[in-house]
Amino acid sequence: MFRGRFAFTILIFFTFSLAVKASKANMDYLARRFELLKMEDGLRLGAESFSKMIAIFSIICLNLFTATTTANLPVENSKYFQVREELIQTEDHLSTGGEVQLNSKEIEVDRIFMKYKIEELKEGSHHPSKNAAGMHFFKAKPLIERSKVFRFLQQMPKGALLHLHNTAGVSSEWIVRNLSQSTGLLRCIDQRGINILTFRENPERHKCTTQYVAVNEERQKSRSQADYNRSFENLINLYTKRPELEYPTINHVWDRFQNMFSTVKDFIHYLPVYRVYLWQLLKESYDDKIIYVELRFSTIELYDDLGQVYTDKDVLTVILEVVGSFRSQYPDFLGVKLIYAINRRLETNEVRNRVEILKKFQ
Ligand SMILES: *[C@@H]1O[C@H](CO)[C@@H](O)[C@H](O)[C@H]1NC(C)=O
Ligand SMILES: *[C@@H]1O[C@H](CO)[C@@H](O)[C@H](O)[C@H]1NC(C)=O
Repeated sequence: MFRGRFAFTILIFFTFSLAVKASKANMDYLARRFELLKMEDGLRLGAESFSKMIAIFSIICLNLFTATTTANLPVENSKYFQVREELIQTEDHLSTGGEVQLNSKEIEVDRIFMKYKIEELKEGSHHPSKNAAGMHFFKAKPLIERSKVFRFLQQMPKGALLHLHNTAGVSSEWIVRNLSQSTGLLRCIDQRGINILTFRENPERHKCTTQYVAVNEERQKSRSQADYNRSFENLINLYTKRPELEYPTINHVWDRFQNMFSTVKDFIHYLPVYRVYLWQLLKESYDDKIIYVELRFSTIELYDDLGQVYTDKDVLTVILEVVGSFRSQYPDFLGVKLIYAINRRLETNEVRNRVEILKKFQ
């Protein structure tokens, strides 16, 4: 659920497109593509002399024999590959950044990066157990963390992170290390069997069917701190050694994923926790070389240990304070855009209420 240190964030480079130029390039691309397809038809086994039926048969066989038949046609072949190469180049120009000219330093960087990339792809194709690209993410994660390609990308400037949910914005490891020992943290299990973490004292709110237990007491009673940390992290992280068994279908994993938001919601909206949480969210993004974040949130409510509830403008003030002090410590960080992202299944009236709340922020 939570970002790892290497979170797959949406990395957006600022690009500009010139519509007129693009459409001219498109025409050129389509013309070359058409030419290539015509040549491919000509190269096909049975293209000219076979009857219709045999031609159909030959299409079936095509995959098996393409290599040998084309090898017998050296003249057409070389022309074909020339047109094919031109097509690929045209495609490269049409892609994002295709018109960018690299300077000599950038060419050097590109060379280093491509060397890492080709090494890792080669290694992966020789040793399937090292082929991160062909593995379940949970199994690939340690390989990715050691990957030179990944480390290289992590250090590169990203610009903006355009889709991040407030409740899933920091690493679970940090929550265990930094927040799980907070004084007053309680755990209970609700009617649905979901673990709830909270600092509130009234169990009614969560309809818990168990008593609240103090997480710190539970921790002290545990025989191994490492085991306790692991089981606590398990509440807020989807990782398992055997994903195939634990999540046999996408519904299993989706339900567990959704339930984790119920587990952490109250936990992170406790005012003292929220401040450090938001700071950490910005810090983890900044460490990944992100300088602008669009942050989605669905709750505008914080509470404190005196039972006071903060809504609307008060919450916004807290957020602005944290972002403001983050920016003064890291002046090249541009800022945050807040997106009020309510559940799309809400009733119309409920949506109307939320829109009214939002209007107050303007
Ligand atoms: C918890 O994280 C906050 C924000 O990153 C930091 O200021 C604080 O020192 C950390 N505390 C511990 C105990 O790690
Ligand atoms: C468990 O987590 C706590 C922080 O919450 C940390 O102080 C402790 O070193 C961790 N212990 C182990 C064995 O991982």
